[in-house]
Amino acid sequence: MANAKSTSENSKDNANRFFDGLIKIFFAFFKILKEGLKTKCYKRHENYALTGSVVLWACVMIYQNKHFKLVDYLPYDMQLPAAKIISVIGDYRLMGLSTLSIIVCSLLFAGFASYKLIQKYQKALDNINLKSGLGDNPKVVSVDKDSNRTRILVKSIGIGEERYKSKLDDFRASLGQQVESVNYLDKDNRFLEISLAHHLLASNVNYSEIITNAKKPYSFVVGQSLKNAITENLEDVPHYLIAGSTGGGKSVAFKSMLLGLLETSKRIQLYIFDFKQVEMNEFAVLPNVKVIKNEHEASMLLEGFVKEMDKRYQKLEEIGEKKINPDRDKLPRIVVGIDECSDLLGKVKKDHPNFKAMERAKRCLNELSRKARASGIHLIFATQKVDMNSIDTQIQENLEGRLSFRMNTIENSVRVLQNNKSYYLPSIPGRAIWKKGANYTEVQCPFISDDELKKRIEVLKDKFSKEKVTMLEPPKEKVEDEKADLYKDGGKHK
Ligand SMILES: Nc1ncnc2c1ncn2[C@@H]1O[C@H](COP(=O)(O)OP(=O)(O)OP(=O)(O)O)[C@@H](O)[C@H]1O
Ligand SMILES: [Mg+2]
Repeated sequence: MANAKSTSENSKDNANRFFDGLIKIFFAFFKILKEGLKTKCYKRHENYALTGSVVLWACVMIYQNKHFKLVDYLPYDMQLPAAKIISVIGDYRLMGLSTLSIIVCSLLFAGFASYKLIQKYQKALDNINLKSGLGDNPKVVSVDKDSNRTRILVKSIGIGEERYKSKLDDFRASLGQQVESVNYLDKDNRFLEISLAHHLLASNVNYSEIITNAKKPYSFVVGQSLKNAITENLEDVPHYLIAGSTGGGKSVAFKSMLLGLLETSKRIQLYIFDFKQVEMNEFAVLPNVKVIKNEHEASMLLEGFVKEMDKRYQKLEEIGEKKINPDRDKLPRIVVGIDECSDLLGKVKKDHPNFKAMERAKRCLNELSRKARASGIHLIFATQKVDMNSIDTQIQENLEGRLSFRMNTIENSVRVLQNNKSYYLPSIPGRAIWKKGANYTEVQCPFISDDELKKRIEVLKDKFSKEKVTMLEPPKEKVEDEKADLYKDGGKHK
């Protein structure tokens, strides 16, 4: 009796297992179909064309009943059953079905690889055993791969970033790949991004160690790439753009760039526009550095630079040379660095208190970016976003060296780099894409602490105070006039 019961229970269990299996297969089938729809390879035009033509071919064959002829190509004993199947397909009502099955097959074909990849990362996630308070496992939503890294998007509600970070070693072991970064993409902590590097780049590079690579005069270190330390100089690339969303490392890169230039150069003058008022004060103690915190003063100085550029070109004409050489011509290279340049170049209404100054600055920077390269006057812009409202397109076109930190949207990345590379960067401070001409390199920019910056500036003080430096000043009366203009209506603007 007991034996009979256990046999019936066994068969019940088997039936349950069988149905569970069927459901799993069913879900897997739809998941693969979904992946097939999403796969980039399927979206390629040639694949559309290929699938379309296969479907068209099948339809025409069936419509003209030519598919019967296909039977002749089969082995003899398969011809009869095949003819039967084909005669069923020949029914027009089933034509749609056969078309659909071709599409489904091609989707399955395209989606299978991506489904397998998702399963692989899902397994690795399951292995590290992270569960929310409600017992839910994190679910891999998509896997995106490029030549440098794999980005895994995970739906993970109720599991903090810190818990993932504490399990990084397990995750690395489970995957056999280096985990570069783990961070939530939204404020509600629902979608987590895990970035896995195919080749791991250092996530911290010390300024004092890497600056020794900047050997040429008027040069600086852009950052450490997988191969080597990348350096650049003002002679080869006269103007630069640093962009990236907040916290990426723009200001640190801006400072290390300016410091590098000061350390490797003999005749150089820096004019730093810092409208945030606090970031660049360390540099102000040097005799050849001027920190400007006011838009009016900045715009008037820019007018002065345009005049200086014209003077320098006149001189070049007289001596029959094409480019300023600081040593030969006894003229300093002038570097104008503008942090948060949208404060100066953004669009404002006519009644804005800085309208006049900003229009003047735009005009001058436009002219300088187009013409100043050979006159030894250089521009470095730092900004969060690059669009018409933050920086003029004409100015943008003349900035050849571009350093883009992680961008929040693909559009912003495309605006700076003409591709999505900075959108796909891991969220590591100081990680950026360096674009020079048509070359793109991922770099880790050097980090310098405030204390170290101060120490190095002390050394520079000795170096530059030996020489007499005359810095360009905005005409005082003009600045005062404009200020008076601003306040004449009772200072309601400020
Ligand atoms: N190269 C780097 N290496 C390591 N950490 C860095 C690096 N650059 C920046 N950081 C870290 O990131 C923080 C933010 O950097 P930074 O102020 O330069 O960002 P930002 O892009 O200028 O931000 P915002 O747009 O808000 O001004 C720094 O305080 C520092 O801790
Ligand atoms: Mg900043």
